[in-house]
Amino acid sequence: MPGFYNKTLAARLQAITEQTGLSQEEIDSFSSLGLGLDSAEHMIENVVGLYSLPIGIATNFRINHKEVLVPMVLEEPSVVAGASLAARLARETGGFIASSDEPVMIAQMQILDLANPHQARLALLAHKQRILDFAQTTDPVIMKLGGGPRDVEVRLIEDSPVGPMLVLHLLYDCRDAMGANTVNTAVEALKPMVEEITGGRVNLRILSNLADQRLARSTCVISTSALAFADFDGEFVRDRIIEASSFAAADPYRAATHNKGIMNGVDAVVIATGNDWRAIEAGAHAYAARSGKYTSLSQWGPDKEGNLVGTIELPMAVGIVGGATKVHPTAQAALKLLAVQSARELAEIIVSVGLAQNFAAIRALATEGIQHGHMGLHARQLAMAAGAAGDEIERVAAQMVQEQQVRLDRAQALVEEIKSYLPKERSYD
Ligand code: MEV
Repeated sequence: MPGFYNKTLAARLQAITEQTGLSQEEIDSFSSLGLGLDSAEHMIENVVGLYSLPIGIATNFRINHKEVLVPMVLEEPSVVAGASLAARLARETGGFIASSDEPVMIAQMQILDLANPHQARLALLAHKQRILDFAQTTDPVIMKLGGGPRDVEVRLIEDSPVGPMLVLHLLYDCRDAMGANTVNTAVEALKPMVEEITGGRVNLRILSNLADQRLARSTCVISTSALAFADFDGEFVRDRIIEASSFAAADPYRAATHNKGIMNGVDAVVIATGNDWRAIEAGAHAYAARSGKYTSLSQWGPDKEGNLVGTIELPMAVGIVGGATKVHPTAQAALKLLAVQSARELAEIIVSVGLAQNFAAIRALATEGIQHGHMGLHARQLAMAAGAAGDEIERVAAQMVQEQQVRLDRAQALVEEIKSYLPKERSYD
């Protein structure tokens, strides 16, 4: 969608209408709040209203050889532009190639008060089929769709302040659902059987957000010619990005910020599609620390032709049915815009956007710094906060950037100055 960035909001909606099969009602759900108060009242408790955020469309994405328009919901400037830029550079060399595991969630059961935890563990494994057979009965709908329990694993935690405990993992294929309700129901229902088999006492029964059976991964190649910009040549940019990647791999302080950049892209799509972004955040950071040391979720290095290659892998427990994906009209429209047929396809898009976002951030950081790009947008926000309207916003913002004084007090002074030029009848007073 060339020039999408420079179009007016109305022209962007027009372009989306022309390019996609979205109905007028679905398109309208972007510009209105989408979610009605009636639905909101049934979503959480003590509802007093609605809270809105911008939804933007990242362009240029080619993922698994398909063109994808990516809806992103967030408050931070530069993220949608960064993702679209990265996608434009990557598409010259084929775009993103992504894959994912079967949508298998882990649900945990904590088992205590065991006379002999080793013996109890073997008893659970000996009764694996019985446990799986019972777990098949708790969600007939998912079973009909081809999902259901897949395996049982049992770990012994020998040393804890409350003594030894067993942890049973029920691995459950949730198909196109995120699956929290399905797996929580299954492990709650299994309590009596597990207590009978082990002679112990079951305490917690809940899914794990470290959904490491449900990973999604993506890769892209960016040529050195695509990396060159302004006064920076492509090899220089590639090598600085690789240095940035090594920094994040080695240092948890940097890894946290590097991964935050990835989550800027990931969360924005997770939220747009009505999925649980806290679950995705928890899973991502737990996965980043799986070796015992927190590290980066992505890696950047050269290939044998000297191109830059990025890779990413993280848990991606998202659904396209159920929960807010079903209730929120904008989430429904976002899913339709993405044209995904399965939760796995959505997961593959999300991790690709995370990788794109990460590239855009470290490309800027390793070259001109991010303040350069941020400042223009930040200046416009300050100009509006200082009371500038219409053309004045650009004038005030441009002046502050040129003076390198992007601050609210300067914006206020410039707005005052403009006001003083206005004829009396056009003044704001
Ligand atoms: C800001 O929201 C995200 C960055 O800090 C990410 C990074 O440092 O890689 C720019």
